[in-house]
Amino acid sequence: MLTKPVTTSVLRQWKLAKEKFACITAYDASFSRLFEEQGMPVMLVGDSLGMAAQGHTSTIPVSISDIAYHTRSVRRGAPNSLIMADMPFMSYSNTDDACKNAASLMRSGANIVKVEGSGSWVYETIRKLTQRSVPVSGHIGMTPQAVNIYGGFKVQGRNETAASKILEAAKQLEEAGAQSMVLECIPEALGQKISESVSIPTIGIGAGKYTDGQILVMHDALGISSGRVPRFAKNFLSGAGDIRAAVRLYMQEVKEGLYPAKEHTY
Ligand code: KIV
Repeated sequence: MLTKPVTTSVLRQWKLAKEKFACITAYDASFSRLFEEQGMPVMLVGDSLGMAAQGHTSTIPVSISDIAYHTRSVRRGAPNSLIMADMPFMSYSNTDDACKNAASLMRSGANIVKVEGSGSWVYETIRKLTQRSVPVSGHIGMTPQAVNIYGGFKVQGRNETAASKILEAAKQLEEAGAQSMVLECIPEALGQKISESVSIPTIGIGAGKYTDGQILVMHDALGISSGRVPRFAKNFLSGAGDIRAAVRLYMQEVKEGLYPAKEHTY
């Protein structure tokens, strides 16, 4: 149970204190209530809802009104968790759209919005949003909105050149004012290097055990996902017996550094 709101400065304190934290995606009020009751500090209304809830094969079809709708639902169930809301595909391709669309997510109950990618246009967007009082999380490594550029959901940063580009992007995100960053599907050593190089919290998914926090799509954590399950996913329900116990087990394994284990990393 969370008795007071989790803020981005709480996440920073946890990073400084080397306290690992778990995050999970949520898309509705029933699950967000259950997650908050177990003490889940951070929930992401991810554009993964396109695949997990809407049945698409990628996150591309998700719209800003979809994310706003689900953010309102998640917030009703979870008054105290930090709610991060995804800016979906093309909703931040210029800074005017980014401001308008971020405002709609913040009005829906988000505490922070998340943008994928790197490059000067992303840093400029983060700068504009933070100057206008919208906290932003970056998201680098494998960014699912770029699936059609990659030609599939592929691990990024495997060679030295690619890894140093991602490390440089992480530094630029912090410089631009990001409050946190998601690191997705990169080698564990790179996840460690980035987490040691930036002072904002890193939240890993398939980025090894050295990131400050971990995040899982709730369907992966509860073994609901069908088809090809990613290497980093772990079904906590099968070892726990019920959903509440599974959520607590996930948080505990993250806190103790037991999840992700070797078999979940690249
Ligand atoms: O959309 C999402 O759920 C995400 C996570 C995979 C980090 O971006």
